[in-house]
Amino acid sequence: MIENKHIIELNHVSKIFDDDTIAVNDFNLYVRKGEFVTFLGPSGCGKSTTLRMIAGFDFPTKGEILLNGKDISSMPPNKRPINMVFQRYALFPHLDVFENVAFGLRLKKIPIQKMDKNGQPILKINNKKVSDIKDDIKSTKKNRHLTEEEKLEKLASLNKLLEAAKTTPEPTYDYRKLTPKEISTRVSRGLKIVDLDSLEDRDVTTLSGGQQQRVAIARAIVNEPEILLLDEPLGALDLKMRKDMQIELKEMHEKLGITFIYVTHDQEEALTMSDTIVVMKDGVIQQIGTPKSIYDEPKNAFVADFIGESNIYNATMIGKMCVRFLDHNFSCLDDFPINEKVDVVVRPEDVIFVKDPSKGMIKGTIITKIFKGVNYQYTVMVGKNELLVKDTHDFPINEEIGIDIEKDSIQIMKKDFTTNIYTDAWIDKNNAVQIDDNPFVCDIAQILPGSKLEDGNLISKDGKHRYNFNDADVVAEIALDKIDIVDDLSSSECQAIGEIVDSVYKGDHYQYIIRTENDEDFVCITPYNYNLNDKVGVHVKPEDIKLRLKKEISEYEI
Ligand SMILES: Nc1ncnc2c1ncn2[C@@H]1O[C@H](COP(=O)(O)OP(=O)(O)O)[C@@H](O)[C@H]1O
Ligand SMILES: [Mg+2]
Repeated sequence: MIENKHIIELNHVSKIFDDDTIAVNDFNLYVRKGEFVTFLGPSGCGKSTTLRMIAGFDFPTKGEILLNGKDISSMPPNKRPINMVFQRYALFPHLDVFENVAFGLRLKKIPIQKMDKNGQPILKINNKKVSDIKDDIKSTKKNRHLTEEEKLEKLASLNKLLEAAKTTPEPTYDYRKLTPKEISTRVSRGLKIVDLDSLEDRDVTTLSGGQQQRVAIARAIVNEPEILLLDEPLGALDLKMRKDMQIELKEMHEKLGITFIYVTHDQEEALTMSDTIVVMKDGVIQQIGTPKSIYDEPKNAFVADFIGESNIYNATMIGKMCVRFLDHNFSCLDDFPINEKVDVVVRPEDVIFVKDPSKGMIKGTIITKIFKGVNYQYTVMVGKNELLVKDTHDFPINEEIGIDIEKDSIQIMKKDFTTNIYTDAWIDKNNAVQIDDNPFVCDIAQILPGSKLEDGNLISKDGKHRYNFNDADVVAEIALDKIDIVDDLSSSECQAIGEIVDSVYKGDHYQYIIRTENDEDFVCITPYNYNLNDKVGVHVKPEDIKLRLKKEISEYEI
């Protein structure tokens, strides 16, 4: 038999909660033995739900999860060779470090295979397995999220499993507890790996946050799992501690040689630690790849924006390997059809300053400069567009400068027309979101579930935290079908004005691109017919604008 090198495989896994929230949508992934895989995405994109399904705390509505090639749908969490470390690690305050780590081991029972007098394994039909599969069959029959066809398919494979379980005798086991000596050996080894062996008698309440998190990790690894799941394990630590722990976790991963599946919303953490990153949004995988491939070749504007700082522009292919943005025609390496609208990404560190403005491909004026330790971060105005630049040299502010962008620094992406994404939106003092210098009334409370607005500030659900988002940078998203076209440009409904620059008939509706004077696009769909170059207005209902903060919410606490 060929050894299955994929320790975990998720095939078409979806999770729909009872309130019809689609938390995970058709998730497909395989993880190799020993790999460090990270799920990365904004809060609410389904990372934890996916992890919980792998751990067995939640069950997929559709699809299957394979462990070493075998379906583990009906395997309870404690039978899976998988352990999970949470962000809020509940340690027992009345127990010392050693006892906290030993706690689970004292309850644990390990299987000992039963043998007969002659030393041959005793085989029996596994009745527990038979009844588990019967339960699975029952719940599949009742599952209203499956189509008839999917149901039949799943039932057929379950019936096959049932037949096999009823007719194939399996080894039988006795269970025994670990001896005190075995427990002590395992705990010592675990504490050594997390570098806490000298602190085993300490009261956990006297430890720092980082040390407590290491106790939580030791507690998971003493079970000798094949896979360790870590759900934002460093979220509660301060920045310095988080950086140190990132390095330590990476070392632990190498020492242990087991598979890590890690969850974070912090792109830097994902880039520094992972072999493979899975970028997620709204329950859907956006891209899977190595940190380098995801950074260098983001598949769409969402990934580009989420992974690192980048300059993203609407651009047009105007010739073979020639793209126009920032009012200039640049040579590039990607071949797209002429006249196609595309997104262009330029990383700030790839922009080259040229002292003499007349010698650069384009000109700009530096308007802000921040020293970041290793380099300077500049904001440059190029016409009406901002360009973010990182450079180790010191250039004067408020002066014109030349700018070069080499062809291998220009990443071109097919335009994602499933939704409008505005990556440089911001919140104004009236709590409206500014898109292309136009205020759009929006629902600011969505940023923090359960919160409400009071005197212009957002109050958290428990009333303990207050936030002010004036000037906050956000990413705003509007679905294509949520943009209404307004014909009367003088109407108060009209929130932005633009010209129809592109029109595609899609069978039963039109898709238009409405471009404003500042080159911002609103892509919308409607059954009504407009002509190219028509001037129209745009209106969006507050509840149809989705917002995501670019920085941590804690930055806005007052
Ligand atoms: N038990 C649940 N019932 C209903 N909806 C849920 C439940 N758990 C999570 N969700 C929803 O599923 C989505 C994904 O949640 P989650 O996996 O926790 O995201 P993440 O870990 O990426 O922040 C969110 O919209 C969340 O509100
Ligand atoms: Mg989560």
